[in-house]
Amino acid sequence: MSAPSLQPPPAAATRILDRIEALARVSEQPDGLTRIYLSPQHAQANALVGGWMREAGLAVHVDAAGNLVGRREGERPGLPCLMLGSHLDSVRNAGRYDGMLGVLTAIECVAALGPRPLPFAIEVVGFGDEEGVRFQATMLGSRAVAGTFDPALLDLRDAGGTTMREAMAAFGLDPSAVGSAARRREDVLAYVEYHIEQGPVLEAEGLPVGVVTAINGQQRFRIQVDGMAGHSGTVPMRLRQDALAAAAECVLAAERIAAGLPDAVATVGQLAPSPGATNVIPGRAVFSLDVRSPRDADRMRVAAAIVDECRAIATRRRVAIDIAQTHELSSCACAAWLQDQVAAAIAADGHRVLALPSGAGHDAMAMVALTDVAMLFLRCRDGISHHPAEAITAEDAATGARVLQAFIERFEPRA
Ligand code: GLV
Ligand code: MN
Ligand code: MN
Repeated sequence: MSAPSLQPPPAAATRILDRIEALARVSEQPDGLTRIYLSPQHAQANALVGGWMREAGLAVHVDAAGNLVGRREGERPGLPCLMLGSHLDSVRNAGRYDGMLGVLTAIECVAALGPRPLPFAIEVVGFGDEEGVRFQATMLGSRAVAGTFDPALLDLRDAGGTTMREAMAAFGLDPSAVGSAARRREDVLAYVEYHIEQGPVLEAEGLPVGVVTAINGQQRFRIQVDGMAGHSGTVPMRLRQDALAAAAECVLAAERIAAGLPDAVATVGQLAPSPGATNVIPGRAVFSLDVRSPRDADRMRVAAAIVDECRAIATRRRVAIDIAQTHELSSCACAAWLQDQVAAAIAADGHRVLALPSGAGHDAMAMVALTDVAMLFLRCRDGISHHPAEAITAEDAATGARVLQAFIERFEPRA
């Protein structure tokens, strides 16, 4: 990363970073950041960020899916909008920039526009769910806005057994009205998301920002293995049906299979054996599986091979296996006309334009069902993300804000 500027960071970057700190304190646990969909912390974040939106002159509401939406009218009320934003939820024990930086920077850019009317409206959205931590299905907020939220998802349960339907009602939403969060195609000119890169490429290139070409597709599964619990001291090894041992073999199979195709990745990030006692053979193991690739055909091939192998392992080990796909999103291309405009804003700020793909998922993948999308990436320290060590410099925060501002000011809707 470049040496920190000796100049004090501009006021906009200072305000963005101060707000990032304040928002990071809205967390399930006091010593780290965890903020999941439809939680009390989600409501607190909407209230806090909604206040900053109002200060920036935006008219604010929470939509039928719990997304926070701020709108600035254009030359006359009701014009189609340029939609900016990202998500306000986090993974468990998260970094504080993933998602939040894009929302708070967009608010700052809108504030900097002042009263000058533009020939289009601007909306800043803080999506309620991108990470999918609570219900396994991801991008619930942006899917609702894009009109692709499947009402069957309302029956998904969180780890505590609460359905999404119940969680929405507890949040003050009407689960039967989620569809009304969907926006009309003619009302949205484009969706542009500013986000930390979450990888090491920009840092390695010595660049603060880059323009995204495409986002890798992804699939997620919930896999449950049922064997037989028993006494750890009395059941001989040859007579066991250990669900955790079977799951462990599945984890290694996923690693091996994904490693066999270039650019494909597979991750088991959750694994819960039960009943969970030192002296009891695990009778059940439930684990997650996340598979990604820039090429959808490869991703599907890897996922299918892992699923087949998990079934074969279960048969050989005489355990039952239930494999449910909870989520699938195709890879998403960023629109060339929008990439050109993001690239022009980067160049106008004096940087070489680097175009790069995104390995991480983003709300833009859901929004592409509604409108053309593009992304501006900001470098982050050591490429670390989904970790409390996620970091950016104040100088880079200022650069990202300037570039996004330049993009907004020069934005030309597609002819
Ligand atoms: C979201 O950050 C994802 O890539 O899963
Ligand atoms: Mn994330
Ligand atoms: Mn994110």
